[in-house]
Amino acid sequence: HWTTKGAFIAYNEFCKAAGIESEPYENLKMKNVTDKFYGTLYSKVLDKKKKGDSIEIAENIPQCNVMINGKKSEIYHIDKLKEKEEFRYAPIGVFDSGVGGLTVAREIMRQLPNENVVYFGDTARVPYGSKSKETVIRYSRQIIRFLQEQQVKAIVVACNTASAFALDTVRNEFDIPIIGVIESGAKVAAARTRNKRVGIIGTVGTVGSGIHAQYLKKLDPEITVFGKACPLFVPLVEEGWLHDPVTVEVASRYLKELQDKDVDTLILGCTHYPLIRSTIRQVMGEEVCLVNPAYETALELGKLLEEQGLSSTGTEQKEFPYRFYVSDLAD
Ligand code: DGL
Repeated sequence: HWTTKGAFIAYNEFCKAAGIESEPYENLKMKNVTDKFYGTLYSKVLDKKKKGDSIEIAENIPQCNVMINGKKSEIYHIDKLKEKEEFRYAPIGVFDSGVGGLTVAREIMRQLPNENVVYFGDTARVPYGSKSKETVIRYSRQIIRFLQEQQVKAIVVACNTASAFALDTVRNEFDIPIIGVIESGAKVAAARTRNKRVGIIGTVGTVGSGIHAQYLKKLDPEITVFGKACPLFVPLVEEGWLHDPVTVEVASRYLKELQDKDVDTLILGCTHYPLIRSTIRQVMGEEVCLVNPAYETALELGKLLEEQGLSSTGTEQKEFPYRFYVSDLAD
């Protein structure tokens, strides 16, 4: 008996993988449980999939058993998990297309020193910035499943491109708190701008999505948003040319347009840009407020954990609180 959308998606996935015909949502007998399930079901079920497997859900929700070929797995009601003290010490999953998202992870570690963190950098498939929305959604789903296998209690999409393209979709699909970096950046920018002219720089994907403008307009309809994709910044940062004349030259060409538009606030809408903040500052001048969404995202994460009763008190922080995974070599 499946009672939430997330659990139903897991059920469907299982049936697909095991070659069993799935029942439509309406036909499944609904139980009187409306809250969210913790979504590790995917990994637990799919790991053991085999054609011909049968699946049966026991009745004792909120902690219910999933029988797969006689083997017992468990799914938990999220409130039940929260009651378990150790769940508070579950890590936070942070992911990015590569290692740039470490700027966000670093901020989380700084602001929330009691939390454990699992970081995933998709170094095999970076960059996301030039890929299609569908591809970025597919990659994000795969990474979230991986992080769920690591038993994380919340996920931060540190990549701006993935936040722009995939956040809404994955939030609907997974029963776990997921936050991105775009909304928080937009909030700060809306609060800081005086002349209501805000610039946003990022990858082709992020800027092309127009998502910052959507958030900013919602916060303050009088704000005008000017976007500029700066695709050369990522390779320059990865080359380590943080204070190089070439980087200054490239920044001057990209940012001229935004200077001409007289923006007073500029969102650094890409994981890599905080690393060339001083170059951007040099080009834009002291008066323009540079917004690094990493700071605000960590604040928002702290609030979310607090609200949901998921903050770690730190007394149990692991000996090695931070784990880092990459899908290919990382220099
Ligand atoms: N992490 C990406 C972002 O923040 C930049 C690198 C890439 O294109 O994948 O948009």
